[in-house]
Amino acid sequence: LATIDHVLFLACGTSWHAALLGKRFLEQIARVHVEVDISSEYRYRNPIAAGGTLVVAISQSGETADTLASVRLARSKFLPVLSLVNVPESTIARESDGVMPLLAGPEIGVASTKAYTGQVLALYLFALQLGRAKGRLSAEECSTRIAAVAELPELVGRTLQETEPAVAAAADLFAAARDSVFLGRVGEYPTALEGALKLKEIAYVTAHGYAAGEFKHGPIALVTAKLPVICLCPPGAMHDKMLSNIEEVRARDGRIIAVGAADDDALDAIADHLFPVAVPADELLQPLLTVLPLQRYALLVAQRRGCDVDQPRNLAKSVTVE
Ligand code: AGP
Repeated sequence: LATIDHVLFLACGTSWHAALLGKRFLEQIARVHVEVDISSEYRYRNPIAAGGTLVVAISQSGETADTLASVRLARSKFLPVLSLVNVPESTIARESDGVMPLLAGPEIGVASTKAYTGQVLALYLFALQLGRAKGRLSAEECSTRIAAVAELPELVGRTLQETEPAVAAAADLFAAARDSVFLGRVGEYPTALEGALKLKEIAYVTAHGYAAGEFKHGPIALVTAKLPVICLCPPGAMHDKMLSNIEEVRARDGRIIAVGAADDDALDAIADHLFPVAVPADELLQPLLTVLPLQRYALLVAQRRGCDVDQPRNLAKSVTVE
């Protein structure tokens, strides 16, 4: 790991969203340059293979056709490939130079949820390991971050419990909405994409996730008094910028569902609904908590719309053909 100068993540769908968070972790903790590519794009764009690059393929199933093809392409260019998979005997695992097993247990539902949590957590731990190997993370800082990870199970339990009433109320109110928008910045931008994907795939709602700073460059024209806008605004460096984005939505009469800290009075005052998530000791870990009420929201909206959440239409658990 000490010789790696560049990491390239390859993945599809929810695994790609986890990869976007992996980029953040590796850049912030290990200060390594990271690129993230969608497997189906990488395989057809005649990519350049730079020396000192480690490819990390992320796939819950380990059988996704585009990610497998990307692994083969990367290896044909003599790039080492590490795969992060939940099925250690899968094809992608077998064809990789190294494997990080996710150990999340079998994931049966088409919508990836626990595998996403496992992927994000594994990428955080990988960033710690890379940071240590490259001498960019002190033993003390590493211990502090691991202590923050150890608190997560309690924070996850609390978040699920404390957000549920507001999630159910919002699902009751917005189950009939045809469109939804999710906004987040930096660490919460992947969460916005993931929240939108969940709502699309199990509730068949047209949902878009945006980097909140991009919203004013066109998509803000979508806002009406009928549009639920789910805004990820936990404490941290992006909080005040997000609040300004939320004010822009409010000024156009959008219905605001905010995800943030329970004691955030400014956020509570501007939002129609607040999903009150726990706040971890390390801000980088916050997306593991903010995604939870969005997964629950998608589930409850889908149930209210009469959708079969276990067998969503047109979808298979793993996409093994192009
Ligand atoms: C997620 O809810 C989806 N079912 C889908 O986006 C999935 O993450 C994607 O097809 C990639 O699958 P993989 O992780 O098994 O490669």
